[in-house]
Amino acid sequence: MMTTPVLEVSGLAVRYGKIEALHKAAIKVGAGQIVSVIGPNGAGKSTLLNAIMGALPVTGHASGRIAYMGEAIGALPIERRVARGMCLVPEKRELFASMTVEDNLVLGAYRRKRAGERNFLDQLEPVFTLFPRLKERRAQAAGTLSGGERQMLAVGRALMGKPDLLMLDEPSLGLAPLIVKEIFHIISALRQTGVATLLIEQNARAALQISDYGYVLETGDLALEGPAAELAQNPRVIETYLGLAKKPV
Ligand SMILES: Nc1ncnc2c1ncn2[C@@H]1O[C@H](COP(=O)(O)OP(=O)(O)O)[C@@H](O)[C@H]1O
Ligand SMILES: [Mg+2]
Repeated sequence: MMTTPVLEVSGLAVRYGKIEALHKAAIKVGAGQIVSVIGPNGAGKSTLLNAIMGALPVTGHASGRIAYMGEAIGALPIERRVARGMCLVPEKRELFASMTVEDNLVLGAYRRKRAGERNFLDQLEPVFTLFPRLKERRAQAAGTLSGGERQMLAVGRALMGKPDLLMLDEPSLGLAPLIVKEIFHIISALRQTGVATLLIEQNARAALQISDYGYVLETGDLALEGPAAELAQNPRVIETYLGLAKKPV
């Protein structure tokens, strides 16, 4: 039996004024899955995520269907989408630099606190277990963290809200390879918590390695899709995104 996908997008188009940046996109994220959308700079990756979250700039206009847990949510404002368990970690991490790591994490649970959840901080220890470095630096100002630690904090803060759908916009951006490895290892481990993850990446190799399913976005079009392991074997993906074209087999 097929369960209802956490996210199912169809015919999603986004325009900025007269320019259409995303053409009729269709993607699906199943419960507990990690699904990635890979593609070069300017392909429309952030546009896709922001449209799903309801976080497009005022000049952006989306049409099409966005179903979350089987319900159309495309008309809901961003707060209502967040309240239903959708969470976006944007490309700009938007941390509070002068606040401590711990206070940034606590802020991630603000919505749950306001909703009257008594145990709104129950994810703090799990987040610290997932990111021991954040625990070590809990009293340190967020602005003093390294790039990788900031990314960890951004993901940790998102998890404080106990989302059902976690959307990550290029978590590897600007990070050294070893840190990317560490962060992707953690994203992969999140699978066990049951959260569904939609991962947007230029780093195709790292993304496909931990994903169940993948899509390739090229200038606003979803050009290819398939199980991540198959996509990683696709000659076109290898040549364009994995950079192995000249390597002998
Ligand atoms: N606020 C905006 N106004 C006008 N055009 C935009 C805006 N944001 C993005 N675009 C355009 O939409 C296209 C896709 O951008 P984006 O979604 O940011 O791509 P990616 O995240 O894959 O790098 C690009 O051509 C970009 O210039
Ligand atoms: Mg982007």
